[in-house]
Amino acid sequence: MQQERGWRAASSGSQNRRVQLFHDKACITCHRISGNGGIHGPDLTDVANRLTKDQMVLMIVNGGKEMPAYGGTLKKEEVNDLTEFLGTRDGNTGKP
Ligand code: HEC
Repeated sequence: MQQERGWRAASSGSQNRRVQLFHDKACITCHRISGNGGIHGPDLTDVANRLTKDQMVLMIVNGGKEMPAYGGTLKKEEVNDLTEFLGTRDGNTGKP
């Protein structure tokens, strides 16, 4: 996908691994970031303005009404990486 390179390229180093995780764990099938991804879940482009990292961890580990719980499938470091990544999504980063 052409657009997808936008926020991938804007990330670097360990950030790349985190973006990769967001893809590999299929978060992107339900969540959009900067216009890429699914529409089932909320757009996470500026999630850092809405939630603290702790709140993100809770959502990822315990799930929500429709958000699957990942507590049983993700390693602690993976949850950490994902929240670090989402913690930088404040609407001003990784624009395509
Ligand atoms: C099956 C679709 C689906 C998948 C896959 C999914 N989510 Fe979600 N997610 C949702 C929905 C729907 C919500 C809205 C909250 C609810 O369901 O109660 C949500 C909410 C969230 C929120 C809170 C957003 C907000 O604005 O309140 C975060 C953060 C989040 N998801 C991260 C992730 C991460 C990280 C992954 C991958 C490990 C992931 N999600 C995978 C559907 C999904």
